Amino acid sequence: MKFDTPEDKAVFAKVVKNLPALVQEKCGGYDEIYGYMIVPSSDPETAEYYDEAAAHAIIRKFCKGYKFQYAVVMEHLASVLKWRKEFNPLSAAFREVHNPELVQVGMLTHYPEEKEANKKAVTWNIYGQLMKKKHLFKEADKFLRYRIGLMERGLRLLDFTDASNDYLVQVHDYKGTSMWRMDGEMKRCVKSIIHVFQEYYPELLAAKYFVYVPTFLSWVYDVIKQFVDESTRKKFVVLNDGKKLGKYLPHCPKSPYGGSDSKSLAEENIAEIRPSPYALYLLEKQIVEDVD
Ligand code: HEM
Repeated sequence: MKFDTPEDKAVFAKVVKNLPALVQEKCGGYDEIYGYMIVPSSDPETAEYYDEAAAHAIIRKFCKGYKFQYAVVMEHLASVLKWRKEFNPLSAAFREVHNPELVQVGMLTHYPEEKEANKKAVTWNIYGQLMKKKHLFKEADKFLRYRIGLMERGLRLLDFTDASNDYLVQVHDYKGTSMWRMDGEMKRCVKSIIHVFQEYYPELLAAKYFVYVPTFLSWVYDVIKQFVDESTRKKFVVLNDGKKLGKYLPHCPKSPYGGSDSKSLAEENIAEIRPSPYALYLLEKQIVEDVD
């Protein structure tokens, strides 16, 4: 594993050394991030799930995301582990049944033949289709669980140990959005999703494309970007003409995004995503506990 400076390497080593105590003392023993066991297990039943290369790559992301400041990194790792224990994003991804109106606007595609780094795994949000479905934003918690489920399933398309495929691309398609106002409920819902991504998913976004944004709705971008931190904002690209997306994602569908693939987005969509072995173990355990 490469580091820019010996100081960064030393911070990483210190985090790795002290993480098991943090997990036990501050996170109620919860040791999973993005489907991976993050510290070695002394329990023979679960020891096999520890994949050091993946665990270290994830820990390194937290170090990078929080600029190798030891105390800040540890604080965020504790907060992520506590949030995951409580929110249960694995359940949102692999167990729960979400509102079909939401499910049909979220897609996942994978372009293994892509040469440019970190443009292989893409999550799509066809949010223009939700323009008139204001009721979905009333139940912000359900929207959030659906969206986090999509994110977690998208993460399965990454390989944390491969520097050319350890960040996701996200696309928001606002095609069909017309004469539209952002009311308080929607604003709150969007804000809470943005907050969760910023707090609990650091160093995972390669780029975010907003396509088919009508020029008269450019103000929405100015409103929403205020909720987003500077480093994330730098990764945003707004394309009024959605066909230009093909320049950034050459393997995406020709119609309506200008890529090279004659298949539609629905045909490219990977509907079936398997949880990681450790996630499966945890989910099965939860099912047994629920039954008991
Ligand atoms: C974020 C929905 C219109 C720009 C979001 C999010 C949702 C959402 C649910 C939360 C983040 C996520 O899911 O990834 C909608 C809907 C719209 C709409 C339903 C109208 C039909 C617009 C427009 C723009 C825009 C017209 C202008 C470019 C943004 C930005 C973010 C965002 C900049 C922050 C993304 C991030 O932090 O990752 N939107 N949106 N939205 N939206 Fe929209």
